[in-house]
Amino acid sequence: MKLEGKRIVVTGASSGIGLALARRLLHAGAKVAGVSRSPEDIKAALGHLGVMAVGCDLSRPDQIDKMLAETEALLGGIDIFVSNAGFAYYGTIGPPDWEKNENIFAVNVLAHIYILQKLTQERTTPLIFMVTISALGKMVLPGFTMYDATKFAMDGFVRSYRMEKPKNIKIMPVYPVATLKTGFFRKAGGSDTPMPLPPQPVGLVAWCMELGLRARAPAVYTSLAFLIRCLLVRVVPVDLAVQFYEGLRFKAWRKRHGV
Ligand SMILES: NC(=O)c1ccc[n+]([C@@H]2O[C@H](COP(=O)([O-])OP(=O)(O)OC[C@H]3O[C@@H](n4cnc5c(N)ncnc54)[C@H](OP(=O)(O)O)[C@@H]3O)[C@@H](O)[C@H]2O)c1
Repeated sequence: MKLEGKRIVVTGASSGIGLALARRLLHAGAKVAGVSRSPEDIKAALGHLGVMAVGCDLSRPDQIDKMLAETEALLGGIDIFVSNAGFAYYGTIGPPDWEKNENIFAVNVLAHIYILQKLTQERTTPLIFMVTISALGKMVLPGFTMYDATKFAMDGFVRSYRMEKPKNIKIMPVYPVATLKTGFFRKAGGSDTPMPLPPQPVGLVAWCMELGLRARAPAVYTSLAFLIRCLLVRVVPVDLAVQFYEGLRFKAWRKRHGV
């Protein structure tokens, strides 16, 4: 599929994977609206390429409604929606905190589902809905409990939704592994948050996502090693060694942070 002239919205376009993907899509000739809470950062990074930037806190449905109306008006319609924004808390689940729990589920789960519902309601034209999940939507690691819960929820949602979706809607989950040059780990648990190995460059993740869109792939795995793991794990408990090693790093992080 050609991306030239396609009207594309990318959430989380102010940083990391969303920013790298939006850049690639603009270079490919697509019309791109980038979304985040800080549209000025999107403009600063991609303004020279003609990006349109829209501010939205995705934990707020009223702001999502406004953002969808604004991006539709700016682009003249939406052919592809890349629902990419998300974040993690690294650490223990901590004391009871409804707002904190709600916030991560709002951004990492509810926003994706709500946007999909809004875009597909009474829609007859084609739509590609790409959603950034994570390798941690298919495997668990210590320190990422809340995040794992949200990403497993999205993986289950996508697999089930495929059985009911109308023909004009294509849903395309993306499963990146730890990605370099994103704000993800620092925001999750501070600058000493251990990054599960081996990490991959953000440019590679964005390139795989672009290829996935061009090929209209059923899903995008950005790491061959992780794809092989997904096949192997059906017969061999390959995650045990990684979980043991990451458990040690988590223990050290907890000691440093006194939690
Ligand atoms: N980095 C990794 O290792 C990795 C691995 C697997 C999957 N992922 C997934 O990849 C996606 C992108 O993350 P990233 O790695 O690019 O991290 P990042 O560099 O921290 O970027 C996160 C983006 O999400 C936006 N965002 C966060 N909360 C938001 C909110 N409430 N409303 C609107 N926008 C919000 C941020 O924008 P503002 O702060 O400006 O609003 C930012 O643009 C996430 O879904 C993440 O779970 C990341």
